[in-house]
Amino acid sequence: MHDDPRSAREERTISRWTRSQAAAIRRSEETLAPVVYPPAEDIDPDLHIWDTWLLRNRDGTIAEIDGYRVIFSLTAPADLLPGKRHDVATIRYFYSRDGREWTCGGPVFEESAEQRSAGSRTESGDSVPFGSRQWAGSALYDRRGGAADDEDGRLYLYYTASGTRGESDLTYTQRLAVGSGGTVETDDDGLEISGPFNHEILLEPDGTEYEREEQSRGMIYTFRDPWFFEDPQTGETCLLFEANTPVPDPELESERYDADPEHLDFNGSVGIAVSPSGDPTEWELESPILEGVGTNQELERPHLVVQNGRYYLFLSSHEHTFAEGLEGYDALYGFVADSLRGEYVPLNESGLVLTNPESAPFQTYSWLAYPHREEILVSSFFNYYDLRGLSLDDVAHLPDDEQQRRFGGTLAPTVRLGVDGTETRVLGALDHGHLPLPREDLPTLLSSYRGGDGGGEY
Ligand code: FRU
Repeated sequence: MHDDPRSAREERTISRWTRSQAAAIRRSEETLAPVVYPPAEDIDPDLHIWDTWLLRNRDGTIAEIDGYRVIFSLTAPADLLPGKRHDVATIRYFYSRDGREWTCGGPVFEESAEQRSAGSRTESGDSVPFGSRQWAGSALYDRRGGAADDEDGRLYLYYTASGTRGESDLTYTQRLAVGSGGTVETDDDGLEISGPFNHEILLEPDGTEYEREEQSRGMIYTFRDPWFFEDPQTGETCLLFEANTPVPDPELESERYDADPEHLDFNGSVGIAVSPSGDPTEWELESPILEGVGTNQELERPHLVVQNGRYYLFLSSHEHTFAEGLEGYDALYGFVADSLRGEYVPLNESGLVLTNPESAPFQTYSWLAYPHREEILVSSFFNYYDLRGLSLDDVAHLPDDEQQRRFGGTLAPTVRLGVDGTETRVLGALDHGHLPLPREDLPTLLSSYRGGDGGGEY
């Protein structure tokens, strides 16, 4: 009798990012971002700012509340060494009337000092977030039902609960969580989000479709970055997330994945859960929609853009998370399908959509794509620059002030992408942190635009 619980998976469509596809990754004019220089002004000089997402309506459009749009970012105090920021990540919100000037509204989940240090009340309260720190997520402003008066929507702030509240030594357990409720108030001076939020753990890995931490043989374990998505074709309510596929017996599965057994420790996937009732807090895990088993360990912050009836699945990944024998970059990768569950094919054949110039390979990371009329706009954060050949590992050995000097820690210029079926190309860039709405015009493109080292105009 065959009792491999995974054999049933073969019946289902799980698209794959194969080694042979990824072997074609090369920088090209179409995929190259312009060199990024420090902005004249940081959004908030007191903060390191990295992964960022927009407050969106159920249909995925950007929410506008009394003329304000809102972003959420992982943040840490700017005097902290940038490499330590993940350990204290705090989600703050910023609002803007024009998509250019952002004002920090503070942490979304306010906690008193007492609550923060209350190890004994670990995870018991429902008004404090789960995890010892909160990592990336997404934000839904739901105007459907549930609102006290018909005007106001309800906030669902999805996040990754990393570690366990109150722990003295940091752990890397990851669970998908939400804080829902809260209020948004606006006046001429700004916008304020306030609690209390009701915090719930939504999903944990099942060990079969999604690897648990103790099953992991890979370098960096993942079960994170929940992304709310409603399918415009079917109305289905979904949550995408970053995960890993368990590979209990690499020898046995090597043929299935067309990779050597040792490559299978790199087992990134894009997971999906559905909410049959449409309730944004009730989720059921399904098989992943994409796997990079044998190819890459981290398929980060997966999200979808539907353009011309096609499903564009985007994710971020690193140079160092590709399996041996493959060379990739810190870059935005993408896949396209005719329906939500695929089959997905890599954009531009290899999956590479947007990467940093060779001379500044780590200048930006953690990309977020969203539609703007016929184009796709891509936001990211300004990461390490002026490294002059140093790797990310080398950076950690630099003197503290040099680590600080070379870390951007603010939003990067927004990049414009043209999309044509299975192909994309960089068209140009906007200012640092400029996030326009579809009704706002973009500057006229310079016909002389050339991506890459020094040639970019933006
Ligand atoms: C990407 C990422 C996310 C995670 C966050 C933690 O930049 O690795 O997957 O939520 O950083 O800081």
